[in-house]
Amino acid sequence: MPRLNENYLNLKESYLFSEIAHRTAAYAKKNPEKGARIIRLGIGDVTRPLGKVVLEALHEGVDAMGKAETFHGYGPEQGYAETRNAISAYYKKNGIEVDPGDIFISDGAKSDTGNITDLFGHDNVILIPDPVYPVYVDSNIMCGNQVTYIAGTTENNFLPMPDPSQHADIIYICSPNNPTGACYTKAQLKEWVDYAIANQAVILFDSAYEAFVSEPDLPRSIYAVEGAKKCAIEFCSLSKTAGFTGTRCGYTVVPKELVFQASNGQEMSLNAMWNRRQSTKFNGVSYIVQKGAEAVFSEEGIRECQENIGYYKKNAKVIADTLTRLNIRFFGGISSPYIWFECPNGMESWECFDYLLENIQVVGTPGAGFGESGKNYFRLTSFGTYENTSEAMKRFEELFAGKN
Ligand code: MLT
Repeated sequence: MPRLNENYLNLKESYLFSEIAHRTAAYAKKNPEKGARIIRLGIGDVTRPLGKVVLEALHEGVDAMGKAETFHGYGPEQGYAETRNAISAYYKKNGIEVDPGDIFISDGAKSDTGNITDLFGHDNVILIPDPVYPVYVDSNIMCGNQVTYIAGTTENNFLPMPDPSQHADIIYICSPNNPTGACYTKAQLKEWVDYAIANQAVILFDSAYEAFVSEPDLPRSIYAVEGAKKCAIEFCSLSKTAGFTGTRCGYTVVPKELVFQASNGQEMSLNAMWNRRQSTKFNGVSYIVQKGAEAVFSEEGIRECQENIGYYKKNAKVIADTLTRLNIRFFGGISSPYIWFECPNGMESWECFDYLLENIQVVGTPGAGFGESGKNYFRLTSFGTYENTSEAMKRFEELFAGKN
């Protein structure tokens, strides 16, 4: 009999978004008529189709695969040079130098933020914000790591700051934050970078929502902060930027400056380790998808992505305006696709989930799924269609008018 990884016994029974899908499907099965009315604003899954230039590039990729002269077999595990160069040029447009050799193309930020634990030992002090994207906590539990939570609350605007009296080795930061929509300023990120350098810690910076940053002073990358290449890995995704939730492509930047000492005194480069990890366990993203990804970063590609992001921001405004009218306190929705609101009438978040599903057939994400500090909050995504978002908000108005 195999000895199993019993750390899995310490996980919640199912992953947050699987649990939501399961509960929603069970409700729909039991109540077919109401089930047909369900509007899903839970998981942040996009609804706008891929842009035209991306589609053309994907078609070109497919055609290339059909001819012996242009056929591609195994590609470089790190990604094709053209895709890495296009991403490096995108950083440059935002005033940041990133060496294409530090960029690794992957099938998305979820995989990389989960797999990065392969590079670290098991006795680190790991700081994880609460609430936050559940993959960070779950993937650390899976490998038996202890986690220290740093609470995001209304007092700190959901942006926990370092405590100089507390040591850390690994720090997770998500900005714009999933689920709260809170976004660190450059000065705040500088505090984290200084703290990480002082502690010889590494920051795992999830920038999956960078394309939603519309306030000009807010940084879209941790590398906007001086010194960050000495302490930070950055994870990015085309899922929300370019509608790739189904197409799958992301990238991770592991600067060569990230060098730490092993217990025997030998220097170890995180870039070399990640390269070793990926070339052993990953065969790269398909040539076709990387052709599409490269097109995302062309001038026209960026324009098309921003057009779709504008559409989602319009949805966010519909949600924000409704909650304002209903006097329900909320956060986010400006430089973020998510709206994070306080559950009305003192409800806890799973109670609120059931209440909304039962009464108006609107599905959202209970804040408790993102951590203990989220238990009285609820997240709505602006990634639905405009029609569904407007209809969901009409039902909110009917349900909560005069009750809050
Ligand atoms: C979310 O809804 O939080 C995200 O879509 C999940 C993900 O990106 O994996």
